[in-house]
Amino acid sequence: MVLYFSATGNTRFIADELAKRTGDDSLNLLKRIREKDFSPIRSDKPFVVCLPVYVCEIPPFIKELILKTPFEGNKNIYFIFTSGGYSGICSSMAKRLARRKGLNYMGSADFKMPRNYIANNAYPELTEEEIRKRIDNSYKLIPEIADLISSGQKLVKRSKHVWLFELVITIPFTPVWTRIRQGVKKFSASDKCIGCRKCANLCPLKVITPDENGRPVWDAKMCAHCMSCIQNCPVEAIDYGDITPPKKRYTFDKYDFRKQKE
Ligand SMILES: Cc1cc2nc3c(=O)[nH]c(=O)nc-3n(C[C@H](O)[C@H](O)[C@H](O)COP(=O)(O)O)c2cc1C
Repeated sequence: MVLYFSATGNTRFIADELAKRTGDDSLNLLKRIREKDFSPIRSDKPFVVCLPVYVCEIPPFIKELILKTPFEGNKNIYFIFTSGGYSGICSSMAKRLARRKGLNYMGSADFKMPRNYIANNAYPELTEEEIRKRIDNSYKLIPEIADLISSGQKLVKRSKHVWLFELVITIPFTPVWTRIRQGVKKFSASDKCIGCRKCANLCPLKVITPDENGRPVWDAKMCAHCMSCIQNCPVEAIDYGDITPPKKRYTFDKYDFRKQKE
């Protein structure tokens, strides 16, 4: 069973392609995350958990779901990370998670995809060409990873080595960064908002409560900053302070060559 969470479509793309090529099913974890549904998941084939990297780590809400949900059936687990190029300590966290669940850790693979985080100015926007190149290179890597999974081999060579200094820096850094930088105060919706409630329905942590007109109200101090609301808004009505107005919105769907072929 290929399990995934995806805010802007990168991870869904990789998960769906891996499922197709390994002859397995894929399961979107969004509903389970939103409902805090930790009921067992059963799979006769290996578990393949696909997730986006957040601040060098496995996002806490995905970690919680993996830990609390009994995985029944097959004892092998693979992890697949999509990131903007740096997966930090994810592979080391994944190994630990597998051990805590009593599952065999079969390694991890990194897919460098377009970076979807637009709520700071730390990175220059990617050009259209770079976006397509990243997607194309990831697509080319899928058959190799799928074959290894299908034949029950470990993804050892694809697993990122985590240096001790990375662990030492990342473990204290990430919670501090998250607390300081992931407030919701700067999110707002402009008059362009059509009250469709898409943002609220996609929010993994359910921090958006629509008002009587369906307009989003961020109803918590902090959120995951997954960018789902901002990036998926059909009329681009959502912004984060004065950082996002000039920026292009990204979802994988806009670049999905499979749809264009249909
Ligand atoms: C809150 C947040 C933190 C992120 N941190 C990292 C990071 O540490 N390293 C990195 O390479 N990409 C980082 N990214 C980029 C995403 O991991 C990447 O774009 C991913 O493919 C998005 O997946 P999705 O489209 O399935 O949501 C971050 C994105 C978000 C929203």
